[in-house]
Amino acid sequence: MSIWKRKPLHLLLAEASESEKGLKRTLTAWSLVALGIGAIIGAGLFVRTATAAAQNAGPSVTIGFIVAAIGCALAGLCYAELSSSIPISGSAYTYTYATMGELLAWIIGWDLILEYAVGAATVGIAWSEYLNNLLVNVLHTSPIPYALSHSPFQTSATGEHGMINLPAFFIVAVISLLLIRGTKESAFVNGLIVIVKVAIVVLIIIFGWSFINPANHTPYIPQNSVFVDEHGVGHHFGGIMGILGAAGTVFFAFIGFDAVSTAAQETKNPKRDMPIGILGSLAVCTVLYILFAHVLTGLESVEFFRTGGKEASVANAITSAMGANYEWLAQFVTVAILFGFTSVILVMLLGQSRVFYAMGNDGLLPRAFGHLHPKYKTPYKANLVILVIVGLFAAFIPGDIVGDMTSIGTLFAFILVCISVIVLRKTQPDMKREFKAPLSDYKLPIVPVLGVIVCLAMIYGLGWTNWLRLIAWLLIGFVIYFGYSRRNSRLNNPDK
Ligand code: ALA
Repeated sequence: MSIWKRKPLHLLLAEASESEKGLKRTLTAWSLVALGIGAIIGAGLFVRTATAAAQNAGPSVTIGFIVAAIGCALAGLCYAELSSSIPISGSAYTYTYATMGELLAWIIGWDLILEYAVGAATVGIAWSEYLNNLLVNVLHTSPIPYALSHSPFQTSATGEHGMINLPAFFIVAVISLLLIRGTKESAFVNGLIVIVKVAIVVLIIIFGWSFINPANHTPYIPQNSVFVDEHGVGHHFGGIMGILGAAGTVFFAFIGFDAVSTAAQETKNPKRDMPIGILGSLAVCTVLYILFAHVLTGLESVEFFRTGGKEASVANAITSAMGANYEWLAQFVTVAILFGFTSVILVMLLGQSRVFYAMGNDGLLPRAFGHLHPKYKTPYKANLVILVIVGLFAAFIPGDIVGDMTSIGTLFAFILVCISVIVLRKTQPDMKREFKAPLSDYKLPIVPVLGVIVCLAMIYGLGWTNWLRLIAWLLIGFVIYFGYSRRNSRLNNPDK
């Protein structure tokens, strides 16, 4: 039994072409870009931007976006290379299994739970914030009581304690059930939502631009200091460290373009469509984010985002800075964001179920995760387990904590993906690569190495509390691997 055993590429590709047993191939390049943007624009932009401005960088959160975009572009090129040569469900997990062996594949599969499952919980929590905003500012009714819409670790400014976040749980459950019905229908709804989402970002940039108050942008990069948040955790504020911390936080806003690669097995022409899907969606979003963050931090002060404007920050900033004439915009944004977040949760849960599906088929997780629904051809058992896991995170953990855990977990996965490209170029030089990342020869792998460096810098910026959370998560993963997965993996136990 070897923990380094690699899954042979020919086996992977043969598995992919077993179409009778496999998932249906229904997605095109355009549906992938839509899937990408659907996954990308979400809580990262509409919630984490304000958090990063408040906790880390003030207006220089825009520079944080640039750092995060550079890291994503570099890792995205590596992702595109791998996904165009190994068009199989399961994303980074699958690539690692083929390149670096079972233990590392397990680590990344386990780590991807942070990205997709914990990420979906984060967006579910953000959904809950905006739902309350909808009830109060659009429908003019009472909000859901604080205790029933916040985690037990949260306390309001007036001293109310949270108990359970029911709306966050609710949205996660509904979307999980929708996913069991199938990807095609979901991708269609997703396409509509993408258009609305891009529209609101553009509207906020256009209308908000003239309300930018230069005082809020001065100084653009605040002086170094420490900000202590409501959980007692200190954050570097201002200076380069503040920018790196902000980059790690808003990195969340880019997560999802790689989820496109998890749908490879459902793509009509993965070799051509994957790179277009991944890099296309990343490019569109980067431009929008930088402009959006510039406007948002110009509308209101850092203090506002630390206090009254902390929750549902974008709608609150519009109301407070742009006045009654733009109340319609705040209301429209609230409604649209609720739909927008829904599509993000959908893509993340889809990605998570595909990773579980692949791991179940490989025996690293119980085989049931690899069972497809007889009629809908979806990994419904995986979806149900995910509903429970994500639902628990969404109901009981605060958004800031799950948000940062998602960022750090994903950054770690990106690093492994960059390394995989280098390893694969060396060990499988003749493998057919429809898309090759530029400047990535294994003798001088500039793009993957820079990808690793930029992602490491963001991990550094996220601070030691998050490093500890990542390490704890990985340790739990080791226990499961050596206690269960290693003994049950199909590769190591062909007779089982
Ligand atoms: N990028 C996604 C979001 O911001 C995860 O919600």
